Amino acid sequence: MKKTLMIAAAAALVAGSVSTAAYASKPFCASCHAGHKDKVGPSFSSVVEAYGSTDAVFAFLNSDADLEPKVAAFASKAGTMKGQLKKYRKLNDAKKAEVRAWFESEIK
Ligand code: HEC
Repeated sequence: MKKTLMIAAAAALVAGSVSTAAYASKPFCASCHAGHKDKVGPSFSSVVEAYGSTDAVFAFLNSDADLEPKVAAFASKAGTMKGQLKKYRKLNDAKKAEVRAWFESEIK
C-alpha cells in the first residue's frame, strides 16, 4: 500500500514537471512571428487568412511539400522561412504539438 502511494506520488511529480516544461518557453518561431503583428515573418493571423484555416497551415507544415509563400507581402522572404521549415519538420511530435498550441494561443 505504502509503495503504491509512493509510486503514485512519483508519477504525479513527473507529470507535473512535463506539463511545466511544455509552457516554459516559446518555440523558436517566436523570434520572427507573432499572432497579430508582422515581425521578420508575417503575423500568424495573416498566414491563417491566406491558408483558410489553422488546420490547413499545419497540414502544410507537417507535409513534405515545398514552401510556396502565400502571404504576398512576404513572398520575397521565403528563403528565410525555408530553413526554419526544415528545422520544424525535424521536431518530434511532442514538440510539434507545442508549436501548434503556442500558435493557437497567439492568434486568439
Ligand atoms: C528567422 C525567422 C523565422 C523563423 C524563426 C520562423 N519563420 Fe515562419 N516565416 C518567416 C518569413 C520571413 C516568412 C515569409 C515568407 C514565406 O511566407 O515563406 C515566414 C512564413 C511562415 C509561414 C507562411 C508560409 C507560406 O506558405 O506563406 C508559416 C506557416 C510560418 N512561417 C510558420 C512558422 C513556424 C510555425 C515557425 C516555427 C516552427 C516559424 N515560422 C519560424 C520567418 C521565420
